[in-house]
Amino acid sequence: MTARTMNFPPLKNDTLLKAIKGEKIERLPVWIMRQAGRHMKEFRDFRKQHSFFEICQTPSLACEVTLMPIKRYDLDAAIIFSDILVIPQALGLNVEMKEGEGPVISNPVTIENMDLLNVPGAVDRLKYVGDAITLTRHKLEGKVPLFGFTGGPWTLMGYMIEGKGSKTLSKAKKWLYSNKECAHKLLQLLTDVIIDYLVMQIKSGAQIVQIFESNADYLNEYLFDVFCKPYLKRISESVHLKLKENNIEEVPMVLFAKGSHYSLETQKDLGYDMIGIDWTISPKIPRNILGSAVAVQGNLDPCALYASEDDIRNLVKEMIKGFGTNKYVVNLGHGIYPDMEESAVEVFIDAVHKYRV
Ligand code: CP3
Repeated sequence: MTARTMNFPPLKNDTLLKAIKGEKIERLPVWIMRQAGRHMKEFRDFRKQHSFFEICQTPSLACEVTLMPIKRYDLDAAIIFSDILVIPQALGLNVEMKEGEGPVISNPVTIENMDLLNVPGAVDRLKYVGDAITLTRHKLEGKVPLFGFTGGPWTLMGYMIEGKGSKTLSKAKKWLYSNKECAHKLLQLLTDVIIDYLVMQIKSGAQIVQIFESNADYLNEYLFDVFCKPYLKRISESVHLKLKENNIEEVPMVLFAKGSHYSLETQKDLGYDMIGIDWTISPKIPRNILGSAVAVQGNLDPCALYASEDDIRNLVKEMIKGFGTNKYVVNLGHGIYPDMEESAVEVFIDAVHKYRV
């Protein structure tokens, strides 16, 4: 079965998909990275009952959490509840989400053990993500489009080698300088899995997909060109090709390579429909570099949600003026933090929607 034969309810709010294509819209679309997460009281309560990966792996629970922010706010997109680290898990790494510490891997990848990664069947072992997507598409009743997502190859490689959050990513970067061959082998392996994983998500009903290359901020133009660019390009090209071969409808693809201003020029030509921009750059700069060939997404400093209501509204206005309203999707410049107020989120969304396009 493919999305086309699953009889999903028709999409009622297609503002986000229209904005990406540059079509006429009544108001700017907005969603928030990590919108289904700990800033919501409902999610914190839910987490007392269920472990993080139990939610990810149980479609009915993942669906319930995905819908929490959609019921609470006037958002223009949903994003399936999951994590980028489900791929390392499917490859045989033990990933645990530790309170206050974030993800921890007890058996990280080394040059010596990398051949033990369990590649065959990895995407089959992630079928629960596809099932969660299919269920959520039905439960959304066409209210807003549903994002699927994945980590980018370099970001996954970083977590798999470091085994936990790192200030420098020096263990993973060491591979880029002292063992390029192994680095390329691992990136290649991850790229192959990511391609099939994205196709599986789209087949299951994802209406748009985003690649989180969140560790791009540890690279520079040279390292990005060698260790990110070819793989990101292959992902967009191969996903499109496989969709065509399998007669599955195309969906927009979004690249969010956090902290990668040094390579915006390069990102324009990697085959993505929209480029995510983090909060450390003024909107006019990426807009000028990217032109109108691709859509842009971003980039309010998440910490702006600590500001007063008036300040949030003004900051939103300034940001929109900077990006312009054509081919633009509003978001924060990185994920929302757990201690942010739901009322601030409401103000942010309202300020976006009140802006006259
Ligand atoms: O955006 C959404 O609402 C969908 C769900 C989503 C999660 N993780 C849930 C989550 C998405 C899109 C992600 C992506 C993700 N995961 C990224 C890329 C985005 C980014 O932040 O750069 C990364 C790097 C990860 C890995 C990861 N997962 C880390 C580093 C952490 C710990 C940091 C933290 O915020 O605690 C997580 C945990 C995580 N992923 C939580 C949620 C809701 C919080 C854990 C919990 O509930 O206990």
